[in-house]
Amino acid sequence: MMVKDSVFGLKGNIVYSKTPKQLEICENSYLVCEKNLVKGVYQELPEEYKKIPVEDYGDCLIIPGLVDLHIHAPQYTFRGLGMDMELLDWLETNTFPEEAKYKNLEYARMAYQIFVDNLRKGATTRACIFATVHRQATLLLMDLLEGSGLHTMVGKVNMDRNCPDYLREETEESASETVEWMKDIQHNKYKKTQAILTPRFIPSCTDELMEKLKMIQMRYQTPVQSHLSENYGEISWVQELCPESEFYGDAYDQFGLFGVDCKTVMAHCVHSDAREIARIKENGVFIAHCPESNMNLASGVAPIRTFLDEGLHVGLGSDVAGGTTENLFTAMAHAVQASKLRWRLKDDSLKPLTASEVFYMATKGGGEFFGKVGSFEPGYELDAVILDDSRLVHPQEINVQQRLERLIYFSDDREVYAKYVAGEKLF
Ligand code: GUN
Ligand code: FE
Repeated sequence: MMVKDSVFGLKGNIVYSKTPKQLEICENSYLVCEKNLVKGVYQELPEEYKKIPVEDYGDCLIIPGLVDLHIHAPQYTFRGLGMDMELLDWLETNTFPEEAKYKNLEYARMAYQIFVDNLRKGATTRACIFATVHRQATLLLMDLLEGSGLHTMVGKVNMDRNCPDYLREETEESASETVEWMKDIQHNKYKKTQAILTPRFIPSCTDELMEKLKMIQMRYQTPVQSHLSENYGEISWVQELCPESEFYGDAYDQFGLFGVDCKTVMAHCVHSDAREIARIKENGVFIAHCPESNMNLASGVAPIRTFLDEGLHVGLGSDVAGGTTENLFTAMAHAVQASKLRWRLKDDSLKPLTASEVFYMATKGGGEFFGKVGSFEPGYELDAVILDDSRLVHPQEINVQQRLERLIYFSDDREVYAKYVAGEKLF
């Protein structure tokens, strides 16, 4: 039988999720990829695949690529700095002055190159990324990401109120620059990099701008990303700005920018009430849980157990630079740790998250925002990360599940030995 080039196998200790509850573990097994999609995971290669090329990764772990549902590329420069404030002061003091620098394309190129290089080295294969208000710098970021081989959604940020004049766009300008940006990338300029509409959050967008953004969303059929119910001061501000909305999420929903006919991911949802959670579920909105950011900015801890029990779509976000690192293993560990503090200190009816659950969120949970991504079930796009954990020495025998647990707590890009995105080998 002819063996097609587009079929290959990866051999190693394969770990992935079908559900949040349980890890699928296949030791010393084969992951077969055909036309960029997972064909299956096999203990022994089936007869028809006996002759396919196989990359043998020995005792390494093979996991689905990790998905970062929320990260700010321009904030990568000041990660770890200025962490003694809450959200609104932190935006004014750290974020807006830094983001203003991306008007300068020379600075943007330097900063975005560092961001993209580091994201590429780690275990992340897909990401939803905020840029800044600047169209040209956003295109530059998209060029660099396209070259990296990662699959990403990138947003030119929209803001026409409540930010310094040096960053604020006029309403009409914000809308027209967004349309120009859509035109810039039409006709398949990119294969791996998609535009995602990005109203920063309700306080920075007037009703008039939100109406215009909905028109753009419908015309170009874009997904949407934003922030929701992150911080108490922010939530009461939204109540003042939008007295007619029932709750924060409703302020997006009134403009048709909250799921239903547009795929939407909202970061945080730390303080979403029962009505907001019900609307998120009804509209099929994805939640990007960003535990480190929520701790650093003292926002709180989102009730992820409730979201999982309700069957909502939940993934993980690093939220750099609210979070300090793009390493999603760290985000998994923080999600577990934050849930334990919440359980002990705030609500003992919500059991802490498990390693299996946070691994699910970092892979299949967030991956679903990109389609059939984040698992090794047949038909999924093949995103795979090969992890060599030999640096983490130990005297005793530990099994594959335990090795994954340790990787969640310890590993960084030093363990990432090889990486595949949508069937393509990056390194
Ligand atoms: N809300 C509005 N803008 C931002 C931002 O840049 N980071 C975070 N964490 N929350 C926001
Ligand atoms: Fe954010």
